[in-house]
Amino acid sequence: MHDLHRAPADAAAETTDFDEILDRSQLSSVKWEMEIDRTGNKSLLGFGTADMDFRSPKPIAEALERTARLGHFGYPYKPNSYYEALIGFYKRHFGWEIKREWIAHNVGIYPSMRPLIDRLSVEGDEIIYQPPVHFQFRNIVAAAGRVPVANPLILRNGRYEFDFDQLARCVSSRTKLLLLCNPHNPVGRVWSRDELAQLAEFCQQNNIVVVSDEVYCGLLHDGFHFTPFGSVSSDALMNSVSLLSASKMFNLTGLKHSQVIAANPRLMNEYLEGLKRDTSGYGGSLFGHVATEVAYRDCDGWLADLMKYVAGNYAFAEAFFKERLPRIRIRPTESTYFMWLDLSDYGMSHQEMLDLFETRHGLVLNYGEDYGPGGEGHIRLNIGTPKSILAQGIERMAKALSSHEG
Ligand SMILES: Cc1ncc(COP(=O)(O)O)c(C=O)c1O
Repeated sequence: MHDLHRAPADAAAETTDFDEILDRSQLSSVKWEMEIDRTGNKSLLGFGTADMDFRSPKPIAEALERTARLGHFGYPYKPNSYYEALIGFYKRHFGWEIKREWIAHNVGIYPSMRPLIDRLSVEGDEIIYQPPVHFQFRNIVAAAGRVPVANPLILRNGRYEFDFDQLARCVSSRTKLLLLCNPHNPVGRVWSRDELAQLAEFCQQNNIVVVSDEVYCGLLHDGFHFTPFGSVSSDALMNSVSLLSASKMFNLTGLKHSQVIAANPRLMNEYLEGLKRDTSGYGGSLFGHVATEVAYRDCDGWLADLMKYVAGNYAFAEAFFKERLPRIRIRPTESTYFMWLDLSDYGMSHQEMLDLFETRHGLVLNYGEDYGPGGEGHIRLNIGTPKSILAQGIERMAKALSSHEG
């Protein structure tokens, strides 16, 4: 055991006060401070960028303080205890036994996609993504000179599903990869084992490697179970690379550390070769791996408390929308700290919504158009925030929409 990373026994018991309003005068985040600078509106409310307005678990902050006090910040080396914590988390929560030799690293999920794309396809090849999904899925493919091919999710009885018929039509001799988002941002689906098994079989038969972004895996609403793509079958495991991080679950996105899991030595080798192109595999974040170890080992209780709080926020906002804004259609969410709301009944364009909510009412939201086909008319509301801030935000939304309705 590496004592530096070990939290004192009682620290894990203390949880975060999720109602606490942080003193932002000392903080500097994209979600709030950058948006205030961008818009010049000091009273805006931020419900956009995908992180939370909560302190991370105390054991993590304490491990970082211990590291800072040592005052040595050279190239970091990950101890055994780091790997034990990581492997333990995925086994304990999802029954997935990751082996140490399957693990590589990066500074984030998206920086891991590019080397895989570079090495597993050539310019002009096609890569499938399933919108509405985070805009980087499409952008990374296009920036690499590959062709992004959209296979939009379909809504069946109010629930998003993979469109397997359309998927079959998307495939050509140039299709090399499929970028999976599991759980899926922004729609919040946790793909079931059956859905993933069908996807795995399809991709195997068509020689398509799956890159599975599983960054939201631990942010589950009650009754929903996450299935790692690599745990579905041995074929799925050998035909995929999974991208993991403690970043979204424990609010560590500023610490820049993630994992790349490839059981297939060929895929692992391609990933490592891909890193050489821009030497991005050189070095790493000491604070990132220290925090990650503690997060994966000592913070299960915090994660459960967090999701209880988020579920409370969800129920609160849902009741508000049903009573006050019944024209908003709420798409049920199984995971993440987002609500995915269909405002198409108001008939506003993306620009009209932006003018109404952001320019006139100081609300930063994410708009469905940015997530690709199927996102039109929707907004993503980040509810990873104290309830009192959420209450102000949805009250402002109601005010904005009533002014729009005249
Ligand atoms: C689906 C998805 N994957 C990956 C990321 C990036 O995560 P990180 O910056 O922790 O690597 C995001 C950020 O919003 C995301 O929504």
